[in-house]
Amino acid sequence: MQVKIEKFDDLGQGLARIDNKVCFIEKSIPDEVVDIDITLNKKDYSKGKIKNIILESKDRIEPICKYYHECGGCQFLHLKDSKEKEFKIEKAKNYLGWCDNFFETLEFNYRDKVTLHVKNGLIGYYDTKSHDLVQINCCYLLNKKINLVIELLNNNLDSNFNGEIIIRENSNEEIMLVIKGNYQYVNKLLDNDLIDNLIYNDKVLKGKDYFIENILDYKFKVHYNSFFQVNRLGLERIIKILDKTLKDKKLNKVLDLYSGTSVLGIILSKYAKRVISIEENTFATLDAKYNLELNKINNLEVINSKVEDYIASFKDIDLVLVDPTRSGLDKKTLNNLVKLKSPYLIYISCEMISLKRDLEVLKDVYNLKKVYLVDMFPKTNKVETIAFLEVLK
Ligand SMILES: C[S@@+](CC[C@H](N)C(=O)[O-])C[C@H]1O[C@@H](n2cnc3c(N)ncnc32)[C@H](O)[C@@H]1O
Repeated sequence: MQVKIEKFDDLGQGLARIDNKVCFIEKSIPDEVVDIDITLNKKDYSKGKIKNIILESKDRIEPICKYYHECGGCQFLHLKDSKEKEFKIEKAKNYLGWCDNFFETLEFNYRDKVTLHVKNGLIGYYDTKSHDLVQINCCYLLNKKINLVIELLNNNLDSNFNGEIIIRENSNEEIMLVIKGNYQYVNKLLDNDLIDNLIYNDKVLKGKDYFIENILDYKFKVHYNSFFQVNRLGLERIIKILDKTLKDKKLNKVLDLYSGTSVLGIILSKYAKRVISIEENTFATLDAKYNLELNKINNLEVINSKVEDYIASFKDIDLVLVDPTRSGLDKKTLNNLVKLKSPYLIYISCEMISLKRDLEVLKDVYNLKKVYLVDMFPKTNKVETIAFLEVLK
């Protein structure tokens, strides 16, 4: 069946219409005419897969990766960079109204962390739709050294191994390898120079259970169970945006919510008399406390709690920074932020759907002032948004 692609949907798939019903076709580009097979047919929509491109977009390029057509790891290897950027900016305009600036990072080899699945010894990503494993030997999004570790593991396949592998690399090119499952060759990894820290089923077999990450002039301890941004350059961009925006502000009390290892709280501490970080993960909270000493910070307090259990106790806050997970803010936290009416609110988000939903509630008391995008996840349909809000006068 032949269809013409009208536009991108929010996930970067092409959208066409068949008898007035929408059809989503992944890896297609607006204005292309494609011959498709229908792979899913629902009452309100269908999904299709390209069989043949009849009229090709000038924005189409040859994907660099041989796994691209089966793997669910990225969405835009077939598209020119300029079009991917346009898609992300348009998405921000549709969801939030406008975009003030778009900050690029690296095109490839930008990810410092990957979680891979292992099925019967084969290592790879899940196909997004089926949870079938797509075995990989390298991924262009990952840092080069992480790819060397994947190659090493692929050279030591153990067909009884089922589980999960997390590989992280820091700015000193140290590797932290976390293996969950039953891997018979784990001891072979001990002597390998590629691996600095090896954690096997929550036991440290080599090195430590953390490493130190250097970002600009800061140092951060990161436990293997703690969150840390996966794109270092992207994090530097966020820090610079915060520095630029806050440099003239005189802040008394500041909240850093969903604080992880208090990376952003430590940045905020330069501009405030007192900062309070709140984080539910115990490992990240302990890292944060250590990070205060590492960076000689004495005006930041770290609280190990769920934000929603604590937020009601605050008043007279000058600035709140929230950086929640993809699901965004819960109702209790939102209601308390509305009551708190801090003069400034910064919302950092990797999911525009939940960001837009939460801004709808916050707009009763806050004005959206600036929208910045940081391309934290190039070649995927995700982008990090930093929204600056001010309380309505
Ligand atoms: C996107 S990360 C941001 C971390 C930090 N701001 C940073 O940039 O490194 C979100 C963090 O929120 C934490 N978290 C998730 N739900 C939470 C909750 N209800 N209360 C407190 N922390 C939470 C997670 O453990 C994670 O560390």
